[in-house]
Amino acid sequence: MTEQQPAPRLAVLGAGVMGVSITTLALARGVPVALVETDPARRAGVRSRIEHELRTAQLMGVPRGPLGELAVTSTAADCKDSDAVIEAVTEDAEVKAEALAEIDRLTGPDTVLITNTSSIPVDELAGRIGHPEKLIGVHFMNPTYLIGTVEVIRGPRTGQSALDGVDRLLGALGRKGVRVADGPGFVTSRLLHRMINDAARIVESGQATAEDVDTLMQDCLGHRTGPLRTADLIGLDNLVDSLRVLHRRTGDEGCRPCELLLRKVRDGEHGRKSGRGFYTYTAGGWT
Ligand SMILES: NC(=O)c1ccc[n+]([C@@H]2O[C@H](COP(=O)([O-])OP(=O)(O)OC[C@H]3O[C@@H](n4cnc5c(N)ncnc54)[C@H](O)[C@@H]3O)[C@@H](O)[C@H]2O)c1
Repeated sequence: MTEQQPAPRLAVLGAGVMGVSITTLALARGVPVALVETDPARRAGVRSRIEHELRTAQLMGVPRGPLGELAVTSTAADCKDSDAVIEAVTEDAEVKAEALAEIDRLTGPDTVLITNTSSIPVDELAGRIGHPEKLIGVHFMNPTYLIGTVEVIRGPRTGQSALDGVDRLLGALGRKGVRVADGPGFVTSRLLHRMINDAARIVESGQATAEDVDTLMQDCLGHRTGPLRTADLIGLDNLVDSLRVLHRRTGDEGCRPCELLLRKVRDGEHGRKSGRGFYTYTAGGWT
């Protein structure tokens, strides 16, 4: 960080897959983070998960200077002096609206409120808070420290100050933003989540195994990891929540979560974070 541009004070809500990933990126870039998590069990394990992610980032060659300072808290009030607050809580419009409305009340007009939702239109959430101009969408992808581009969603009511705040934050995080208009799933989830649902349907029908679907998508079509490995990385519970949002708001039957995904979520097979999804993982399970 330069003397002219001090690091923005960042708060992150939710210490799930994305809250941890975004916090890791910020700390590695020297940005201080107040991480708010309501679940005591999640809170208890979060420092060791972030240390693990920081080590992984370093092994993957992510450049790192002095780390930003981390505060872990259960209290949203600890966000009140932040320049930017990123909500990365459960993909549920009610939970998000409540969390954002509280942060809006606690913070001043210059704080930018960022939703990391995968699928809920930004304006739907903006309509639930007192100052809709403070809210903007920034769709970080996991692992955030390896993926240098983010989708930035300007809602119809997003103000210029929020756009400027996001530019400053992305500059500090070394990320490039691609701006798109609002709508269910924006661009990336509208395309990706439907494709993953189709890939799961193919496995469900017995036409091909998960490994074979992923190998074909990787080797023949250049997909980096294959859709079902990506699904495990996202978390199948979050994926199903996002598909439900997409299905309800677009009416697109291709977005109705297929039975195989629903069964895996019911059985606790949430992907990497639970140790099992379409694949089995020996390390990294934490739900
Ligand atoms: N998983 C991904 O790859 C991915 C990628 C891009 C965007 N997203 C989006 O990011 C958000 C978070 O996804 P995730 O996969 O990390 O979910 P997750 O289920 O792993 O974690 C959500 C966390 O939020 C916590 N939480 C709930 N309400 C809270 C509140 N009011 N204050 C503080 N913490 C609260 C929960 O206890 C949980 O720890 C979702 O909107 C999701 O759609 C996810």
